[in-house]
Amino acid sequence: MSYPYQIRSMEQYLSEYKRSVEDPEGFWGGIASHFSWHRKWDKVLDWNFTDPRVKWFSGAQLNITENCLDRHLAERGDQPAIIWEPNDPEEHFRILSYKELHFKVCQFAQALKNNGAKKGDRICIYMPMVPELAIAVLACARIGAIHSVVFGGFSAQSIADRIQDAQCNLVITSDGAHRGNKQIPLKSVIDDALVQCPSVKKVIVLTRTRVPVSMIKGRDTWWEDEIRKVETQGNPACPAETMDAEDMLFILYTSGSTGKPKGVVHTCGGYMVYTNYSFVNVFQYQPGDVYFCTADIGWITGHSYIVYGPLSAGATSLMFEGIPTYPDAGRFWDIVDKFKVNILYTAPTAIRSLMGFGLDFVKNKDLSSLKVLGTVGEPINEEAWHWYHENIGKGRCPIVDTWWQTETAGILISNMAGITPHKPAHATLPLPGVQPLLVDEKGTAIPGGDAAKDGVWFGAGKTGEPISGNLCIKFPWPAILRTTYGDHERCRQTYFATYPGLYFTGDGALRDAEGNYRITGRVDDVLNVSGHRIGTAEVENAINMHTGVVESAVVGYPHDIKGQGIYAFVIFNGDKSDETRVRQAIIQTVARIIGPIAKPDKIQLVGGLPKTRSGKIMRRILRKIAEGETHNLGDTTTLLDPAVVEEIKTGRL
Ligand code: PRX
Repeated sequence: MSYPYQIRSMEQYLSEYKRSVEDPEGFWGGIASHFSWHRKWDKVLDWNFTDPRVKWFSGAQLNITENCLDRHLAERGDQPAIIWEPNDPEEHFRILSYKELHFKVCQFAQALKNNGAKKGDRICIYMPMVPELAIAVLACARIGAIHSVVFGGFSAQSIADRIQDAQCNLVITSDGAHRGNKQIPLKSVIDDALVQCPSVKKVIVLTRTRVPVSMIKGRDTWWEDEIRKVETQGNPACPAETMDAEDMLFILYTSGSTGKPKGVVHTCGGYMVYTNYSFVNVFQYQPGDVYFCTADIGWITGHSYIVYGPLSAGATSLMFEGIPTYPDAGRFWDIVDKFKVNILYTAPTAIRSLMGFGLDFVKNKDLSSLKVLGTVGEPINEEAWHWYHENIGKGRCPIVDTWWQTETAGILISNMAGITPHKPAHATLPLPGVQPLLVDEKGTAIPGGDAAKDGVWFGAGKTGEPISGNLCIKFPWPAILRTTYGDHERCRQTYFATYPGLYFTGDGALRDAEGNYRITGRVDDVLNVSGHRIGTAEVENAINMHTGVVESAVVGYPHDIKGQGIYAFVIFNGDKSDETRVRQAIIQTVARIIGPIAKPDKIQLVGGLPKTRSGKIMRRILRKIAEGETHNLGDTTTLLDPAVVEEIKTGRL
């Protein structure tokens, strides 16, 4: 498969960018013409950011799995689609060719149909990182069911919230999951969740760890038995359901600054075109390359850059079940060596953690196959960038620092490997079709912050201090979120109301004289812990569920490995004689309500919280204290009771 839309030089990038701004419909229509459609579109783009309403490729019909599977069969049917490396290096790896993956997806899609699943149904997937997870996702897409994948680190309560919100009628899970030397009892967590979920009629359970599970009669069935039934039916061909370009493909829940996680909705056509385009261009994938993204399919990175982007491009996507430090901190490098990985895409938190283990785990590993390195999920600090560049890329691999979000579904700002320059700690330039804009608090555009108007390389040759502002995008790209499931008003409020006419990302950014964007982090109450997005309000609500807790306030603080740690200030009126026990009980509560990923790193028991006279918690002050700043707390004149702050400062952990 060749990629006629793959950009191969800086000049070409600049001209494509210009064209994408001047004629977005011509630009994206041209790219979309390289995919398989059942019916072509009537109109490329129809949009406003007021409702908001965004429609790409209206009138077109397709099935994304035909683009990910069927269309590759003739040319590359025997090429590996998925290489799977298990948690335990002693267990045998698996390779699924495009032919095999196609066969298995069709088989499982038929199994879903046998269990009553149909187009438009919502199906929750809670599985380990095994090929069957990718198969389950694609099988849903094959029959037009909407998948909602929930990451294995979420608790029963979080799963129940997500299942109820989307009214899922089917769940796909496994008995358990291997994670390092731990086992996670996935089915048992699902059983706890389903107590609250009457909408779920069927549960399909894959065998993975062989931990005993309770199978409920009439509801629960084994994956393997379902496959056997399809075999006895003679493996009927499972034709791909015809979907409208704007039909929902999936829902993925993500945290915001308020309330419960929102179900971000992505649709079939635009999502397919954009994830493919960004994959091919950012990573500069060449046919035959082995591409390894270390993310979990439970997050957007896994959806877009393990499954849909790479497979629609006919790439070989390596999937890893385990963790970077098991059986030791050399595991990633062993995998690179073993499968001669050419492109490695991981998170800054993993790099920082592996850096801490020293170079002994890197030496003697053959990393010479690597051509391109990538990072995603959080800002990368310069130290980690250089360590990655020198010790993993041996100074010869470009690093793509890819900025994007669950809501954007694909990479929006990044260099293109070897084509546009990289710069440590900078996501650099927008992809063609992406029109970022920096605004001040009032929403006024900051001069020099508008790539489409001021020039993508606006300051080339000039010197000057970077400008800074809140990062917005002023024009839709094909994979922008369409709504938040069941609550369009929330979508409008969250993303399109802060600055009317713009999509607001929630991130702050700088822009240097060469036009490079540097993402500085969230400007709202959202934390980024090890690249995972967690809302402070969500953690506070969970802490407040504990009977002894009166009130709490959660902020982030710089953490050497996680990027941000979770610092909780808690007013506790229960028995405080054993503070360690109180802290453990609070941590336990958060793990139950949200999941282990949201456990606070520090819990400080306090007598009161700093509030304004109107009762608002002054988080700004708490953030400073958590960061270790005790002198310069900024304006404290509106504080109701300054003594509270003194007490908190003294008790800082
Ligand atoms: O703050 C930004 C940060 O991660 C947020 C999006 O989180 P999520 O939706 O979970 O998606 C993560 C994977 C795409 C952003 O608002 N972020 C993501 N990538 C970068 C980043 N911050 C800095 N640099 C990045 N490359």
